[in-house]
Amino acid sequence: MPRSTALYFLQALKNNIREYWWKSMVQYHENIVGLDAAIFMHPTVWKASGHVDAFSDPMIDNKDSKKRYRADVLIEEYIQKTEDKISKEVEKARVRFGETFDETMYRETNPRVKEYLEKITAVKHRFYPALDRNDLADVKLLIEELGIVCPVSGTKNWTEVRQFNLMFSTQMGSVNEDASEIYLRPETAQGIFVNFLNVQKTARMKIPFGIAQTGKAFRNEIVARQFLFRMREFEQMEMQFFVKPGEEMKWYEYWKEERMKWHLSLGMPANKYRFHDHDKLAHYANAAADIEFEFPIGFKEIEGIHSRTDFDLSAHQKFSGKKIQYFDTEQNESYVPYVVETSIGLDRTFLAVLSHAYREEKLEDGSDRVVLGIPARLAPIKVAVLPLVKKDGLPEKAREIMDKLMYDHRCFYEEKDTIGRRYRRMDALGTPYCITIDHQTLQDNTVTIRDRDTMLQERIGMEQVSSVVSGRIAG
Ligand code: GAP
Repeated sequence: MPRSTALYFLQALKNNIREYWWKSMVQYHENIVGLDAAIFMHPTVWKASGHVDAFSDPMIDNKDSKKRYRADVLIEEYIQKTEDKISKEVEKARVRFGETFDETMYRETNPRVKEYLEKITAVKHRFYPALDRNDLADVKLLIEELGIVCPVSGTKNWTEVRQFNLMFSTQMGSVNEDASEIYLRPETAQGIFVNFLNVQKTARMKIPFGIAQTGKAFRNEIVARQFLFRMREFEQMEMQFFVKPGEEMKWYEYWKEERMKWHLSLGMPANKYRFHDHDKLAHYANAAADIEFEFPIGFKEIEGIHSRTDFDLSAHQKFSGKKIQYFDTEQNESYVPYVVETSIGLDRTFLAVLSHAYREEKLEDGSDRVVLGIPARLAPIKVAVLPLVKKDGLPEKAREIMDKLMYDHRCFYEEKDTIGRRYRRMDALGTPYCITIDHQTLQDNTVTIRDRDTMLQERIGMEQVSSVVSGRIAG
């Protein structure tokens, strides 16, 4: 693939995911409005939100490999490995016992599974309170007691655990003495909170309602590895949903379900997703869950749904000295709304779509093909327009179609090479539909439309092409 096509392709896939999220949240919900808040905000915003004092991760170094890790991730990976062992035991037993298998009973009675479960409970009971107390010495002790080794050196030669603040800061002001420290936002959410009253009043929104925005966020991650999974500069798509106090759990469940539906609408199988309810809650939350996706590196968080209580709005009210309340005309009372947040990483969604889409197939005739099975609505190029040969007036007919289609869909015109090779190239680019113009087109104004996944071709009228393609993309 030429470099320019590759760059266009990556950018277009990212744009299409963002646009689909935006439509699903803002266009398809009358009670959600969009916002584009600033990346730099007054430093007090980050003091109020708790980020300056508490947005940190515990880090630990291995003295032999000199590699740095997140101490909490080392322990969470240990828990995950133990859970994987339980799943393996359960699957083995399922095969052994067949239809009579009772998973709940097995988990409750099998000695090995019970032992693993007890170990997980004991680790959680020790680990989360230690983090809450900021007892980093105990976190280190736990890592040592669990026998966790550095994956690179294989040793347990660990340093002390230290807290590492993830905020990126810089100086604002042209004269050194006057310069003040400001921060790049580590989440887009706070821009929504500080604009809550502005948006509510100008858009005349009534609770319950949401404010959505997409944009860059920056975190000085201790370990930024695993390709796009964990980066220091990444993009979030967030929505804060403001509700009446006491109704937050209802809306939390609602948004958990809605967001899972959105992920499933991308066309990836349901068994690739799961919920992970948080045992340890952030200081601002009274409930939280992750939607996890099975990346090539295992099940990992792709989106968080958090019931953030009135923590953020109350904190901004306190630090700004300005009343941030909603006047409920039906109840005739003012209150600080509670918030349910949905927060998804654009880059992680991009990684999920791309890694799942890639497949290599052996065809019936013995040949191979590479296919990017990207859902049609996200595909960077929707239609390829291909005259069968470069002569006999076929390119002119193809151009007629191209001229009409390009206003609705991103199209790609190509006349070089055999038609088979061109189909393969389009399969590898994830183009869902190829329109081929052949000699029959000259007689009856029909063309073939080829489906990327089934490779089946149908004849349709030239006039129908645009509506058929639109209908199939919309599903
Ligand atoms: N406002 C809530 C919030 O920021 P979070 O769980 O820290 O919650 C939300 O982040 C989402 O942002 C995650 O589910 C993930 O998809 C994405 N994300 C967080 N940190 C990231 C990083 N370092 N690199 C890429 N994506 C990240």
